[in-house]
Formats: sequence, structure tokens, C-alpha cells
Amino acid sequence: MTREEAHKKILWGAATAAYQVEGAAFCDGKGKNSWDEYYELNDLGYDGTVAVDHYHRVEEDLKLFHEIGLQGYRFSVSWSRILPEGTGKINPKGLEFYDYIVDSLNAYGIEPYLTLYHWDLPLPLLKKGGWLNPEVIENFLEYCRILFEHFKSRVRLWATINEPASEVMEGYIQGTHPPQEKNYAHAIQVSHHYNVASASAIRLFREMKMEGKIGIVLNPMPVDILEETEENKQAKEIAYEYFSDWYIRSALIGEYPQRMLEFCKKTYSAPEIREEELALMKENIGDYLGVNYYMRRVVKAEKLDSPDIEEKFSYVRVPGGNYTKWGWEIYPYGIANLLKQIYNEYGKKEIIISENGIGFDDCMDENGYFADDERIAYLKQHTDIIEELCTQGIDITGYYVWSAIDLLSWTNGYQKRYGLVGVDFDTMNRSIKKSGEWYRKFIRQE
Ligand code: NOJ
Repeated sequence: MTREEAHKKILWGAATAAYQVEGAAFCDGKGKNSWDEYYELNDLGYDGTVAVDHYHRVEEDLKLFHEIGLQGYRFSVSWSRILPEGTGKINPKGLEFYDYIVDSLNAYGIEPYLTLYHWDLPLPLLKKGGWLNPEVIENFLEYCRILFEHFKSRVRLWATINEPASEVMEGYIQGTHPPQEKNYAHAIQVSHHYNVASASAIRLFREMKMEGKIGIVLNPMPVDILEETEENKQAKEIAYEYFSDWYIRSALIGEYPQRMLEFCKKTYSAPEIREEELALMKENIGDYLGVNYYMRRVVKAEKLDSPDIEEKFSYVRVPGGNYTKWGWEIYPYGIANLLKQIYNEYGKKEIIISENGIGFDDCMDENGYFADDERIAYLKQHTDIIEELCTQGIDITGYYVWSAIDLLSWTNGYQKRYGLVGVDFDTMNRSIKKSGEWYRKFIRQE
């Protein structure tokens, strides 16, 4: 495949998530969710009550996405807008809002890519144990069925769950996302429930004879070491299994990496896995693998025999490395290393780069314009590698810039911007950034 063919094969889009853009947290019958409560409990100086008010400005936003020339738009549905209690009574206003999005995108010729769950769990379900309670999987399926039925012929690209690894780490190990726990046993059990939920949604999708494709969206990270010692090599393997392969292996072949599984069972007596759940995972593999790529991990060995996984290795800052203010290393080759490793271990699979982008505090000038050259440089480097990988036989069919518009960063508020469309947070005025103009030309190859 030539570069030109690769460019044509890939659907070039951008992404957002409901809670990060919509606002209207208490409007039109939406129920409270885990993040509404999180911001009430933690006084961070920002929250998602208004976000970027996408709920009320959706018409303008979709028009801007069309102006940029996006070929695909990945968005998520807020579960608590559809089922305010998490289960039971449907809120028609919630469906209406997403009808508008889907119908407008289709009218614009932008492929709608719908994520069923991007971290905002209805509060009543959190109160009954959240993802630690396996009953939530049934509630999730009830919600999926509603969306499958409702959008059957209108949405053809679906994601089950966004970045389960982030929610496991931040929600249950580091305690920085809801439900703010620090408990490895719970974390590992929850990761299993996410996998079962995703596989069950995929099964339902196929039982309902839905058109199009469905898959899970992961954030696997390639892991590197700086010094090739035996201990470091071991640390690298452990870290990769922990961050990445735990999720990749279960998504691609319905199994957990054996060594990590044994370690978790011995040390934390988790996860509890029922035979039929493994069979379900094996039989319901996604049509594609969604990969959100932001950075690699560079580690070195610490206490390799510690029962605390995160004590086994530590993170290394690469001398001379290119880091953002938030400490995220800009390392475009990581995506190539990661996808090649996945192909080596599991063979060919359709890949969608479901998120890729850079967060920084780009500034608006007095005319409301964002000259975000750093973002352009970042996107150029990454899209270049993506096309190159395609020519080398990696089956990449989509690429989604995170994010289509400036939005709420879960624990960094509004200072860390990601958008192709900039938002003036005082007036809520929108404008296409320089990166949005660059992306338009890139998509059209002008
Ligand atoms: C991945 C998550 O899916 C998204 O919600 C988040 O804002 C970005 N990473 C950037 O941190």
C-alpha cells in the first residue's frame, strides 16, 4: 500500500466524551452520575456542570466539525441522560439529544462513532457498588440494548468501554477518579467486570444483528527501559503486562496473561473468574481494537518481589526527552513499537486509533485565535507514523484527534486544552484553531 492509499484508507476524525463537553448536568431529566458527585465531594475549583456547554451549543459545534472536514466524530453517550436511575425508566429528552447528533453527523457525511461508556456511571449504580458489583453488567446491557435498538441503522461504529485501564488505575489504585479507592483486589476484580461487560455488549450487538463494527477502546502503553539489565528487562515485562497486556490479551483472545494472573490470585485473591465468563470473553472478540495513544512508559526495576505491583518498578524520566508541562513524554515512535508488538504477539487485527493528541495551555490571542503550533507539530509527527505503519501492513482504519473541541480534563480542569476548536471559557465563543485549519488541509491533502 502506498502512502496515498494509506491516507485514503484511514478515516480522519476527532473525539470527545459526554461528561467532558456536554455540561447541562442537571438539565432535561439527566440523572446524577459518578462525576457529578466526585466534583461535589472534591473542591477542585472546577466541575462539569457547564463544561463547554456542548449540550446547548451542539448545532454550532457540529457545524465547526464539518468545517474542519472531519470524516468521523467519536462521542460518548451519557448513561444517566438516557436512564437517570441507571436502569428502568428511559428519559426521552436524552435520546433526543443524541438523535440530533447522529442525524446531523449523517447529514454532514461525518461517520458517527458512538462510545457506550466513557467513565460516567449513573450515581444510583455507584451506590450499589459500581463496577465492583457484577450486577452492574446487567444494567449496562439494559442500557446498551436501548442504544442498539434506537440507533440501529444510523450508527455503524461502536465502542463498548473507553480505557478500562485508566478507570481501574485511577478509580481503584490511585484513588484519583470515582470511587476514589486504593485497593488492588477491587481494582483487579473491576478490570475483569469491565471485560465481561464489554464482551457481553459485543455478544448482544451480534445477537441483535447490528450493522457495522463494535470493539473496546484501550490505552495500552509500550514500555521501554534505558539500561538493558536483567532486572530492568523483568521490570519492563511486568509493567507491560500490568498496563497493557492485561487488557490487550483479554480483548484479543479472551485470556489474561498467565504470570500476572497467578500473581494477582496469589497476592490479592483476585480476580474471581467464572468459567462461563472466560468462554464469553473468548467467543466475543471485538471487530477491531481501539487504541488511545498518548505516551510510552519508561521504567526501571525496583523491588521486583514486592506484593505491590507499582513497587516493582519506578518511572524514569528520559534525559533529553520531550515532555509537556504535565509530564507526558511526546514520543511518536511509541505507537509504532506498540502496534508492532501487538501484531507480533497476536497477529493481524483491525486497529482504530481512537484517540491521540496533546494537552497544553495554548493561549487565545486578543482576536480569539489560537495559534497552536505545538499541536500541529505533534499531529504531523503522529499522523506521519500512522500512515507509514499502514504502508507496512498494519491495518489502521481510523484516527481520531483528541479532542474535537476544548473540554474538561477530568483532574486538570480547563487549563489543559486539547481541542482543534478553541473555546473562550468566559464567553463560550468557539473558533477553529490553527491546528484545526492544518487538519482540514491534511485530510484533503491540500
Ligand atoms: C483518555 C481519555 O479517554 C479522555 O477522556 C482523556 O481526557 C484523555 N485521555 C486525555 O487525558
